[in-house]
Amino acid sequence: MASEKLKVLEDFIKDDKPIGDKQGQLMGVLHKTQTIFGYLPAEAMDVISEKLDVPSAHVYGMATFYNYFSLKPRARFQIFTCKGTACYVGGGARILERLKQELKIGVGDTTPDGMFGINITRCLGCCGLSPVMQVNEDIYVRMVPEKIPLILAKYRKMDKKKRR
Ligand code: FES
Repeated sequence: MASEKLKVLEDFIKDDKPIGDKQGQLMGVLHKTQTIFGYLPAEAMDVISEKLDVPSAHVYGMATFYNYFSLKPRARFQIFTCKGTACYVGGGARILERLKQELKIGVGDTTPDGMFGINITRCLGCCGLSPVMQVNEDIYVRMVPEKIPLILAKYRKMDKKKRR
């Protein structure tokens, strides 16, 4: 599977007719890689460096500069806890702690089954309803830590249905 995807990437690079400079080409290839794999795996980064004749450090430099790119597989459900002032004052830290405890991962990590990832975000724009938490596109307001197990269970159920 991974080698098939690498082949797709290699073919893309081979057929690529860049209009701009090397920097622009690298950006385009990184975008394509993220689309193919869902993230930027190390093997793909090696291929890019070799085929474009760009130092590996430069490829990683660009990949880590832009938030759009991810060097780790992304979780199917990305959880964002708000670290804006209103949410912080309203108990946002307790939400984050409970999430870490329930999922046994830290901020920026993904659960081993690839289901959940924990992230921190700035103000989500609904401070009056703080503390706020987001899971993919869903927003949860006036959060309390006790709601977390139920919310996680909802996504586990959803995931199970999808994979049937
Ligand atoms: S501070 Fe959290 S939504 Fe604004």
